[in-house]
Amino acid sequence: MQTVTLIPGDGIGPEIVEAVKQIFEAAKAPIQWEEELAGETALAQKGDLIPTSLTDSITHHKVALKGPLATPVGKGFKSINVSLRQKFELYQNIRPCISTVGIDTKFDQVNTVLFRENTEGLYSGLSYYDERLKIVDSISRISWSGCTRIVKAAFDYAQKNNRKKVTVVHKANILKRSGGMMLEAASTISKDYPSLTWDDKIVDNMCMQLVIRPEQFDVIVTSNLFGDILSDLCAGLVGGLGVVAGANIGDGCAIFEAVHGTAPDIAGKGIANPTALLRSAVMMLEYLDEITIAQKINQAIDKTLAQVEQRTGDLGGKANTQQFTEYVIQNIV
Ligand code: NAI
Repeated sequence: MQTVTLIPGDGIGPEIVEAVKQIFEAAKAPIQWEEELAGETALAQKGDLIPTSLTDSITHHKVALKGPLATPVGKGFKSINVSLRQKFELYQNIRPCISTVGIDTKFDQVNTVLFRENTEGLYSGLSYYDERLKIVDSISRISWSGCTRIVKAAFDYAQKNNRKKVTVVHKANILKRSGGMMLEAASTISKDYPSLTWDDKIVDNMCMQLVIRPEQFDVIVTSNLFGDILSDLCAGLVGGLGVVAGANIGDGCAIFEAVHGTAPDIAGKGIANPTALLRSAVMMLEYLDEITIAQKINQAIDKTLAQVEQRTGDLGGKANTQQFTEYVIQNIV
């Protein structure tokens, strides 16, 4: 039995976390949860946005499942998500975007895995405000070690998972040094992976290519900001934010979470789609080498999503979160 830190999160977080707990129990997944608060709920109850008990729990168990956390827009505290990724050096943000049979989208052959650098770039937190001149400098810090480790992670993943191609996404025509460094890293690292091909795309062209012919992409690797934006774009290709999973992985520590946020527009209504967090929890089982149980839950999700009446409203169905959860449980074999 593996103990995992569980952060319920804000907004729809507690509703979709409850769904995962019920499905894991029904599937007899060998996981026990240690619940810890973060963000605004932690501030209200424990007087700290990131309580020591939370960081101690992650340090100890080395694996966490996290519901989404709210970040104030344009003011207030620094994103807890960004802080946790930086604190635990979770430099790989892995976001698979794969078409699901039955979910009606414009494309049915999407099968990409996006690797987003997760600790550097414009999210480094290096922001300076000159009050007198009213000028903000937000520094995009990119390091050679940061570029090489994310590019290597993407090539490693591609090789281990029988993928064929890695596409590096950048803006090196304008951001010559920072974009150029990621390209140079790919050129160097690719020599160790002769069975893989690789190419590169400028990010603006990449956006267009993804919405015209997404099936041409396999593994994608890019910087923090571009990865943040491209992963929501990719989510839109396969059914939206309700279905796309994510993993934040470092050397020896990992936090799994959906790509989506707290969905304040539907929070508290009991209608959120728990698939994205559930698929993230399945990625966690794979990370923990619990492959059989991961496949069992994935098959139950696929079977549920294949039937329109069993889906949640965002995917054209009528089920609420609890009903969807019960359908997945019934579909576990
Ligand atoms: P969002 O992802 O919360 O919502 C965007 C749209 O997708 C909304 O219409 C929402 O209802 C829908 N949606 C998202 N997840 C869904 C689900 N599971 N089922 C059905 N519909 C779903 O993005 P938004 O509104 O930009 O951000 C809200 C808050 O979430 C912000 O405070 C933001 O900072 C935070 N956030 C947190 C993330 C995290 O914890 N990793 C990631 C993204 C945003």
